[in-house]
Amino acid sequence: MDFTLTEEQLMIQQAARDFAQQELLPGVIERDEEQKFPADQVKMMGELGFLGMMVDPNYGGSGLDTLSYVLVMEELSKVDASASVIVSVNNSLVCWGLETYGTEEQKQKYLTRLATGEIIGAFCLSEPEAGSDATSQKTTAIDKGDHYLLNGTKNWITNGGTADVYLVMAQTDAAKKHKGINALIVEKGMEGFEIGPKENKLGIRGSDTHSLNFNDVKVPKENRIGEDGFGFKFAMKTLAGGRIGIAAQALGIAAGAYELARKYSKERKAFGTEIMNHQAIAFKLADMHTQIDAARMLVYKAAVDKDQNRNYDLSGAMAKLYASQVAMDTTVEAVQIHGGNGFVKDYHVERLMRDAKITQIYEGTSEIQKIVISRSILKD
Ligand code: CAA
Repeated sequence: MDFTLTEEQLMIQQAARDFAQQELLPGVIERDEEQKFPADQVKMMGELGFLGMMVDPNYGGSGLDTLSYVLVMEELSKVDASASVIVSVNNSLVCWGLETYGTEEQKQKYLTRLATGEIIGAFCLSEPEAGSDATSQKTTAIDKGDHYLLNGTKNWITNGGTADVYLVMAQTDAAKKHKGINALIVEKGMEGFEIGPKENKLGIRGSDTHSLNFNDVKVPKENRIGEDGFGFKFAMKTLAGGRIGIAAQALGIAAGAYELARKYSKERKAFGTEIMNHQAIAFKLADMHTQIDAARMLVYKAAVDKDQNRNYDLSGAMAKLYASQVAMDTTVEAVQIHGGNGFVKDYHVERLMRDAKITQIYEGTSEIQKIVISRSILKD
């Protein structure tokens, strides 16, 4: 498969690289320590078109392909994975779902503002008792004629406190199991909608993760996405694309840690020479480079599958499974190469190691990716 990047893709990649160095790097350690949401940077990313990258320009988006989106995710994640997950959720889980399955009215009302970053979105599937087992939704959306009455709790919601628009999966007809689930657009400020406390996380601490409570929230019928009972399929189809974004995030975290370790190995001296001259270090770098390149091939292939309208459930799951493992392995080794300096915050690699872990958990754990992959390869 030929991954030669076009002039336009190279320009977008460079723009993301410059933005990450100039706007994300300063303050990234403090934002991590203080769990501070990068509000100014999110605004700038909206202006750069990074929040609605694949959305049709008629709805305020940048009209780019998935490969360009992946390139941006990779560059942002090298420096600040908290900022990149905001980009990923808004693009893949919110804008894509609305553009693909929303009504014209919903697109005009919500997508046009989400794609420009005027507002941001959140995707609400996980619950206290339904994480990986997503068909077991306990949140209910009872049909009341012209509206749904929404009750329940959602957990670990990225952009939970800062979003304006929430795509919420809820059970309307429990007897129909997953075919009774609906996807509803809920706005911040709707009566009975409460944002729970912010989670104190191991990594991606600048991103804003909350639980959400819905107590008799009246959601107008016109806020349902797709036909009655389409909510679970909507979530699965949306997550299939989301996984490509998270795979790109994992790739970026790995590549960022590798670049720091490579640079450090050329500067740091031990036993009378730069540590890169010790085979113990050089071989670690060789492994890291090889694994990152392999992860990149999987991530780009999944993106190109999506761009060329091929099925990307399998390639997206493989990309996420592998890239997230590479992110973990690479960041652990980057800390090791840095020795004692790797264990303190100034050198960035300890943060990248903490940030890497979530890529094996959210938008489907590695075990869920293996379910998706094994079912796909065994179904014939
Ligand atoms: N596209 C379309 N339909 C799909 C699909 C896909 N990719 N995957 C499953 N479905 C459909 C199936 O066809 C089936 O429908 P039918 O009965 O009509 O055939 C239905 O969904 C149920 O599928 P399964 O029987 O396979 O369901 P299951 O209970 O075995 O679970 C699963 C399947 C893949 C494990 C799924 O539950 C899953 O993906 N779980 C993980 C959920 C997840 O990723 N959560 C992350 C939360 S979001 C997040 O992290 C957001 C954030 O803020 C960052």
